[in-house]
Amino acid sequence: MLSPSKKITVIFSLLLISLGATSVAQQRNISEGVYTEAQAILGKDDHDANCKACHAMKFYRDIWFAWEERPLMNFWYILASEMPSDNPGSLSDDEYTNIVAYILSDLDFPAGDVPLDPSNEMEGITIAPF
Ligand code: HEC
Repeated sequence: MLSPSKKITVIFSLLLISLGATSVAQQRNISEGVYTEAQAILGKDDHDANCKACHAMKFYRDIWFAWEERPLMNFWYILASEMPSDNPGSLSDDEYTNIVAYILSDLDFPAGDVPLDPSNEMEGITIAPF
């Protein structure tokens, strides 16, 4: 039998381990396959229709350094709240998400199995240099 104080130590250590595991699971970066191929394909059409008139894809390469180390959620939020500049917020949440997926794929970040979703831990995904 463990003494009561040892039991508390064991429980406390398990708690710390599980908390640690949770925060590791939530912290990812965009190199780890954070969107699906299907989203990127839809996003190309959304981008062509709503963004391409003002932004060639090279634009995102040029501004990417300014976004490094910031949460992908912030990037999504800027698009959803400020773009297209002549009609901000006019797209659906899914369309903005697909456009983010298309931009990531154009910057050669890999697709994965789980769809990108602003309501599912996107704030835990960090932007990496391409
Ligand atoms: C009518 C022209 C126009 C359209 C359409 C447009 N933008 Fe923009 N966008 C701008 C201007 C102007 C800026 C700010 C100046 C700059 O950074 O070149 C900008 C800035 C941006 C930035 C940089 C934001 C930052 O703070 O780093 C991103 C990313 C962006 N636009 C994405 C998009 C996306 C995605 C779409 C389509 C949903 C879109 N834009 C549609 C004109 C436009």
